[in-house]
Amino acid sequence: MTTTIPTNQLLEIAATYGTPVYVYDANKIKTQYEKLVNGFSILDTRIFYACKALTNLHVIKYINSLGCNIDCSSINEVKLALHAGVAPENVLYTSNGISFAEIEEAVAAGVHINIDSLSNLEKFGKKYGHSYPVGIRLRPNIMAGGNLKISTGHDKSKFGIPVEQISELEQIVKDNNIFIRTLHIHTGSDIKDAEVFVKGIEVLFELFPHFPELEVIDLGGGFKVPYKEDEKETNIAALAQKLKQAFADHPLANGKELQVWFEPGKFLVSECGYLLAEVNVLKQNADVIIAGINTGLNHLIRPMMYDAYHYISNLSNPNGEEKKHMITGYICETDTFASDRMLPEIKEGDILCIHNAGAYGYEMASNYNSRYRPAEVLVKDGEAILIRKRESFEDLLKNII
Ligand code: LLP
Repeated sequence: MTTTIPTNQLLEIAATYGTPVYVYDANKIKTQYEKLVNGFSILDTRIFYACKALTNLHVIKYINSLGCNIDCSSINEVKLALHAGVAPENVLYTSNGISFAEIEEAVAAGVHINIDSLSNLEKFGKKYGHSYPVGIRLRPNIMAGGNLKISTGHDKSKFGIPVEQISELEQIVKDNNIFIRTLHIHTGSDIKDAEVFVKGIEVLFELFPHFPELEVIDLGGGFKVPYKEDEKETNIAALAQKLKQAFADHPLANGKELQVWFEPGKFLVSECGYLLAEVNVLKQNADVIIAGINTGLNHLIRPMMYDAYHYISNLSNPNGEEKKHMITGYICETDTFASDRMLPEIKEGDILCIHNAGAYGYEMASNYNSRYRPAEVLVKDGEAILIRKRESFEDLLKNII
């Protein structure tokens, strides 16, 4: 796997801004967005970037400047999107387990909302009646996603309103005359089999007769990106064909053409991101060299939390002799990035590059072990721009009273 940013520029960024540092390639984001737009051109589609993957304001602004809408998972993400200058009609708030107060705030902001519980839907109906078109997040009872922790549509999941509760749901909608514009599902992240999206709309087709004012179906996010060299990303054009076929085989909802919304996170920003770290120490174990780097699960938790594979390259010695390495972090936990990886020989001081770090990387970072969160750099039109500085000791103290 090669980096989309030249090695010498990555090394320069490491030297200029220090390590660990997250680096994002704006060009790669644009390429991914264009794949979505071109692939889905045969359907009436709107793309909302699931900004929980990476919320740096500059990234939100950049993605919005491409013409992409923004999906949010908390009221603060909604505020960030609005602060970034995104128009409310281009912001979607798909939450779970939130208080009704957040829904009221989202209504006041004028953004699209998907509601995920019967109790909030009822409160919404009592307060807004038919005046504010809204979406409902359903749980379709479909198993999907790269692993159980990122599977959200199955029958034991906390997400959405279970489809089997359709009668109760319909009663609440009728009693309060709620304008249900959207049916939403999100079955999981890192979905390998795109058939899941077809299964998803088939579940929704069954429900169409219950919602006479329906205008939109929202199939969530979850498109796959390659984390390993032999993995393939979701073929968007092929998926669009399958969805079009499914629509063709099915009577339209209430005789109306529906718009299809998607909320991709990883597809847009996973591969654009690199976490650069320096090798602090080497240790020799029986048959493996342990390379301890100056980052850890505090900065990229995916390998430890999901057993996620992240490709790693040695920028300082790309053509060295391949040796078996274990790459570990500096946190007082077993924070192993790779346990048994053939890599060009690593020396102390080398700069390693962890690939696919754009999505859920910085975003899930913490101050564990009282470490600072890293800096973030965006490479745009060949130029490296610092878009968030590294934290400092003052940041660790700032809310202490
Ligand atoms: N829409 C909804 C309602 C979601 O819950 C999510 C992700 C997305 C869209 C975007 O999914 P994506 O296209 O990024 O797969 N931290 C985990 C992933 C958690 C995903 C949470 N929801 C990871 O690093 O794998």
